[in-house]
Amino acid sequence: MNVIRLDEVDSTNNYAKLHIHDLADKTVVHALRQTNGRGRFNRKWVDLGAENLFFSIVLKPDSCYSSVLPNITQYACLVLCKIFENYGIEPKIKWPNDVMIDGKRKISGILSETVINGGQLEGLIVGIGVNLNSCRKDVDLIPDRVATSLNLEVDKPINMEAFLNEFLNEFFANYNSFLGKGFNLIKNDYIKRSCFLNQDINVQVLNEIKSGYAKEISDDGELILETEDNKDLVLTIGDIL
Ligand code: BTN
Repeated sequence: MNVIRLDEVDSTNNYAKLHIHDLADKTVVHALRQTNGRGRFNRKWVDLGAENLFFSIVLKPDSCYSSVLPNITQYACLVLCKIFENYGIEPKIKWPNDVMIDGKRKISGILSETVINGGQLEGLIVGIGVNLNSCRKDVDLIPDRVATSLNLEVDKPINMEAFLNEFLNEFFANYNSFLGKGFNLIKNDYIKRSCFLNQDINVQVLNEIKSGYAKEISDDGELILETEDNKDLVLTIGDIL
């Protein structure tokens, strides 16, 4: 694993995309500051200052593993939970890949993007932002959501380099097994930490809101929503509201 360290960049995902051709499998792009961080659904990922984490992992798996790649964000999300747990907190997963504290406060985000060239996958970029050292007033200004930061949850500053190393070690320790087994490798651990299961929820899917009972997470990591007319909706993307 090779780590590229940048003082400032618009977005580590943009940097990884731009240089994908020259970046080897398992390269990590880590920036101290991000001026135009991007989130899912065209949202912004706000830079809450130095000592917060912004990084992207470049992966170039063999094409035979393409079926498990949609689940890579869920894999990364579970790894984040495990690292947070080492700091004494109990994070929960809001399907598909938000890590929440008390089911309400978002502490990290993952944006995965693929780069396709000539019809072939050139690489997969897993971009991760973690609020590690932020002040309450900045966190409260984040638009669209209630957020938090690890230092605020444990009441002490967090060593950013140590957190990043712990994450990367855990991520790559089981990465090959994940490629081989896909979501099944993590299904039990993922479900154990899931919030919003077994309750009525609303999910924004593109421009529509789907409502129903969150019945289960499938073997492929999809959310199964039972609608009022007893039909099962199988969701692969969406944002639980
Ligand atoms: C989300 O929750 O919507 C995903 C947020 C992902 C943010 C990270 S920060 C590092 C990487 N670079 C980006 O521009 N975005 C991701």
